[in-house]
Amino acid sequence: MKPNKPVIGIIPTFPLEENDNPYEDRASFVRMYIHKIREAGGIPLGILEENIEEVLPLCDGFLWPGGSKIIQSFYKVLDHAIKNHKPVLGICMGAQAIAIYFTLKEDAFNHSEKELQQIYDKNKEENPYLRLIDEEKQKNHAHIITKDTVDTAHHKIKIEKNSFLYDIYEQEEIDVVSLHKMSIARVSKDILINAKSLDDVIEGIEYHQDNQHILGVQYHPEIMKSNRIFEWLIESTRQDYQVLVNKSHEFKRNNQFVITNYHSKDPLCENPNMESLTRECFMAWQKYLEKEGIIIDVESAYRSKEIQEQIYQENILEHGIEHTSVFVAKPGYSEHETGLAVDVCAKINNKYCYERDISEEIYARLQETCADFGFILRYPKGKEEITLYHYEPWHFRYVGSPFVAHKIMDSHQCLEEYLCQK
Ligand code: DAL
Ligand code: ZN
Repeated sequence: MKPNKPVIGIIPTFPLEENDNPYEDRASFVRMYIHKIREAGGIPLGILEENIEEVLPLCDGFLWPGGSKIIQSFYKVLDHAIKNHKPVLGICMGAQAIAIYFTLKEDAFNHSEKELQQIYDKNKEENPYLRLIDEEKQKNHAHIITKDTVDTAHHKIKIEKNSFLYDIYEQEEIDVVSLHKMSIARVSKDILINAKSLDDVIEGIEYHQDNQHILGVQYHPEIMKSNRIFEWLIESTRQDYQVLVNKSHEFKRNNQFVITNYHSKDPLCENPNMESLTRECFMAWQKYLEKEGIIIDVESAYRSKEIQEQIYQENILEHGIEHTSVFVAKPGYSEHETGLAVDVCAKINNKYCYERDISEEIYARLQETCADFGFILRYPKGKEEITLYHYEPWHFRYVGSPFVAHKIMDSHQCLEEYLCQK
């Protein structure tokens, strides 16, 4: 079974000498990447040239780290990521490799392996895609004392609003750790330059067409304190979790989630199962609330289309069509069919309570804490004209990460508003 944590394939950092073990060179850098990926909640997996075809399908996202040499066969990683809609983060030389990939595509050059090697050779000043940073600027980007003594530098970068990088740091200017001599000289028209240093070096690029998440940064986030960029990579593997299912968006079963068994302690619960990550995060939320004396459980989570049909028809018989249309979705149009939605019940005085029998205090606490576990209130009060459903304080929806959930909850948006401004 595939692990719940996303697998991030890491391209090796190649040494300049032939026949050396790629993972031995700059071992401390590699360890830092691994550490950051794990800290962000992913599983790092090394990719080698000889196993690339087998490894690519196992990965949910990719990291192209810094180094000294771009190996052409690793462009297969970008081909695979674009085709399969997987995110990529490039760092330093990795960012340069991404920029070159798109520029070469735009130029539609058919370079031979030898020509490419010349293009990638970082020391060639005539390289058309990369540029050696001017001597007077070099000290801003790395302290190069001798050929073999290179140290990192700090400098500020300016970040474009409406970019992945702004989403990540939520600031227009940040301080970064820098270690490079070359910079990106040209980008294709598909690429957005999302950051520059104050001395005008390209510090970030991104490709976001067709909702693709490909980001490259010239600086070194693996030696910075913030882990947000690696969290972004992990969150980007979970874009499917931001699926919109509402009155005008039917649930397309081709990207169906893995539904796992869940045991609700509520004896009346008939549909307790959930998507596997939703279940894990719901249980963590439940445990957290228990410490405050709030006992929640599942009243209804995953429903097949047939069960939704049954609930819909029963509701019409019991409450009429008008009431049903603002409380129950038509079969095919309920996000309960994704496995990402949970109707919560609460145990009060030893009895499981539902909907209006749960106090506003408990609902307020659920709304204050849900985002920390990746959930949002799906049908908030005051948003009825957008969601087209009545306020449902019991219905929570998993969106893939606490970061995305906080963006929605903290800005008092509903899912429709968040997705339409993205
Ligand atoms: N109660 C929500 C709208 C559903 O039936 O999916
Ligand atoms: Zn519901």
